[in-house]
Amino acid sequence: MAKLKGLLLAGGTGSRLRPLTYTGAKQLIPVANRPILFYAVDALVAAGVEEIGVIVGDTRREVEAALGDGSQFDAHLTYIPQSEPLGLAHAVKTARSFLGTSPFLMFLGDNLLRGGLTRLATRFMTGGFAAAILLTEVKDPTQFGVAVVEDGRVVRLVEKPKDPPSNLALVGAYCFGPTIHHAIDRLEPSWRGEYEITDAIQTLIDQNLSVDATLVEGWWKDTGRPEDVLEANRLVLEDIENQIDGTVDDESHLEGRVIVGLGAQVIRSTIRGPVSIAAGARIQDSYVGPYTSIGQGVLISHTEIENSVVLTDSKISAVNGRIDQSLIGRGVTVSGVQTRPRAVHLILGDQSRIDL
Ligand code: DAU
Repeated sequence: MAKLKGLLLAGGTGSRLRPLTYTGAKQLIPVANRPILFYAVDALVAAGVEEIGVIVGDTRREVEAALGDGSQFDAHLTYIPQSEPLGLAHAVKTARSFLGTSPFLMFLGDNLLRGGLTRLATRFMTGGFAAAILLTEVKDPTQFGVAVVEDGRVVRLVEKPKDPPSNLALVGAYCFGPTIHHAIDRLEPSWRGEYEITDAIQTLIDQNLSVDATLVEGWWKDTGRPEDVLEANRLVLEDIENQIDGTVDDESHLEGRVIVGLGAQVIRSTIRGPVSIAAGARIQDSYVGPYTSIGQGVLISHTEIENSVVLTDSKISAVNGRIDQSLIGRGVTVSGVQTRPRAVHLILGDQSRIDL
């Protein structure tokens, strides 16, 4: 069989992550100070994929600047512009000439899988299936593609069902042989106006072609919403090791596993891991609690923060009370008011969210 190619989806609009996605690709939002998309490329490479097509949309320039030609991941990347985010099956159609008749492993660039893609790829390449999918139990199946499995076989798939027939969601990782292209050619848009890969796989099932389904091992996270990014950050930070490349002064206390990047400074502060502090950040007279990632060039001063993600170059100072469960974008300024009256001054972008 020909070598498995990769198809990484990094287009789409990221509407559920606004306002952060007004200025950047959702797949480049970092968890533990690394863009989500980087973990996806790593997972494809670890599964033995070298040739990866990257579907890009409006944020093409930014995605290309971050991933480059792929050599930093030992992969070869080909960028494939998608005219509009018309659905996952439309993305496959757009990549048709890149894929040729090769089997391929498609992975959604905003998904994170602790257990990786190797088991999925190996099962597919050795099992003679038309497609292979991964499933996992979820609390709210209406948000996902949902599978009905009988006697270990997938018998029905339905995308974002209003009335879910099971709680088994399709994870955003799929292996396909070339028959998927014929199924895609015959697709009609769904009720939400997208060409659904879920419907294309249903066509394979209807033709009695074999679709392998296995349950995910370890955690899986679709990072579509802000709370998912925070949860993904928590899960990834669970696995970090201590690494201090920056400076920590004598008046500071580090507890648990903490990363302090090159040129970062911790001054008169307590850091309780797991915490990742990126290069060039400065933490002074502050407390940074568990499950927090502080981005490059960020300044945290006279503030308590935990369970949060702060992107690059933001400044947070003298905030009253503790910042918790917060996702803070790039170049944001948050400062406490020390004078009376303690009015709240807000300059918030469109679709910001703030709980006071
Ligand atoms: O995360 C798993 C779910 O992913 C599955 O359970 C669903 O069956 C599947 O349809 C998909 O649902 P989402 O609604 O979460 O997909 P989303 O629109 O968020 O797109 C997933 C990724 O693919 C995201 O990184 C953007 C990219 N994309 C999306 C579309 C629709 C593209 O590159 N092009 C597109 O046309």
